[in-house]
Amino acid sequence: MNVILLGLPGAGKGTQASRIIEQYQIPHISTGDMFRAAIAAGTELGKKAKSYMDAGELVPDEVTNGIVKERLQEADTAQGFLLDGYPRTINQAEALKENLKSLGKAIDKVIYIEVASEVLLQRLSGRYICANCGETYHKIFNPTKEEGVCDRCGSTQFYQREDDKPETVKNRIRVNKETTDQLVNFYKDEGVLIAVNGDQSPEAVFTDIKNAL
Ligand code: AP5
Ligand code: MG
Ligand code: ZN
Repeated sequence: MNVILLGLPGAGKGTQASRIIEQYQIPHISTGDMFRAAIAAGTELGKKAKSYMDAGELVPDEVTNGIVKERLQEADTAQGFLLDGYPRTINQAEALKENLKSLGKAIDKVIYIEVASEVLLQRLSGRYICANCGETYHKIFNPTKEEGVCDRCGSTQFYQREDDKPETVKNRIRVNKETTDQLVNFYKDEGVLIAVNGDQSPEAVFTDIKNAL
């Protein structure tokens, strides 16, 4: 099953991705995570991506298309994959389509997690992430069961994302709004789009996604 998770910053792509990959046993391909790993490792890719990410802008399409193309050639994608945060522009959607075609594949479903812009700011400013396993939490909406201990791996180390500062968040939402609307139309035309209401509990959103898949 080849699936795309589409949604504005803070819509809950990462939160749902961790549930989906566990349920369907497919690899999670998040371009944001790949860029953050490259920045942490100090690679050329990280150097290219950093200034864009810090400003809440999109990394150029050539760079992003290149890393996804390479990633989709890896063996673990044979039985399917979950793309999170890619594609984000029509150029990326076209590149992905060509790329998959050359591999004899296509996208089966695009899950669009719909959340009103007003909610997103609150979600991102309260987000914290497990430093060990990457599980995502929220101070108010989605806290760990035991305070300060990751539900999934038991780690007590957490961090907040550099780009979750209010000013950067506002720009991220603005930058992504128009292109997300364009992608919704693109995948509607392809007949693979399923919209789910992202403004309910993470469990309820996941139930809707399972039903859709
Ligand atoms: P990326 O890392 O993909 O960030 P994003 O798209 O801004 O999305 P987020 O990861 O912030 O949000 P999310 O939807 O995953 O929400 P989450 O589950 O964490 O990209 C970062 C940057 O990299 C971009 O700005 C760009 O510069 C670059 N980049 C990446 N891909 C690119 C591409 N294709 N092209 C060009 N540039 C690219 O949830 C958010 C919070 O809400 C959490 O605290 C969570 O606990 C909480 N929450 C989740 N679900 C719920 C719920 N149902 N109810 C209440 N709270 C909830
Ligand atoms: Mg994410
Ligand atoms: Zn953890």
